[in-house]
Amino acid sequence: MPIIQEPTTKAYLKLLRERLSDARLSHTVFTAEYLSSFAPDLGLNHGDAVVAALFHDFYRDCAPEAMLQDARQLRIPMSDCQLEEPLLLHGPLAAEWCRRELEISEAVYEAIYWHTTGRPGLGLLGQALYVADFAEPSRRFPEAEQARQLLRRENFRTALLFTTEIRHAVNQQKKVTDPNTEAFLLWLKTGGAA
Ligand SMILES: [Fe+2]
Ligand SMILES: [Fe+2]
Repeated sequence: MPIIQEPTTKAYLKLLRERLSDARLSHTVFTAEYLSSFAPDLGLNHGDAVVAALFHDFYRDCAPEAMLQDARQLRIPMSDCQLEEPLLLHGPLAAEWCRRELEISEAVYEAIYWHTTGRPGLGLLGQALYVADFAEPSRRFPEAEQARQLLRRENFRTALLFTTEIRHAVNQQKKVTDPNTEAFLLWLKTGGAA
């Protein structure tokens, strides 16, 4: 179902346009349209899927110092990784902002909060956003196309496992590696998730 069919989408897009760069807005809309195309098949609420995708990167264009400052102000607990790499806070900050400013469900809050790293026990909406963020159709790298194919030809679980394996491998190359992604992968491999 197109995202514009949700009654709040128009107003949300206005907010996003004021806040995000053109490239980020484009990625956001692609993520939302893509997630909304498969969320109902997973039994997810369409409105929840749209709002989670639209706001997942709401803080992504903020400067690192501003992220740290806002996280302190909002009393978001920060890990050593997040203190070293404030970009890792953009999910938690967006989730907190949405909780305060919009009427969101716990599932939406969790999905936005953990969309960068995943975590063991992550709910289905969070899992679906994790895949959609990685594989939305404007992502041109070959692994994104592979994930889209797995979702089309195999099933969601296969696409999720593939996405997590790739994202974990990419994280390993980074200066700061958040341990939640490895724990998420282990959880999936040992039978966690839908
Ligand atoms: Fe993000
Ligand atoms: Fe994103």
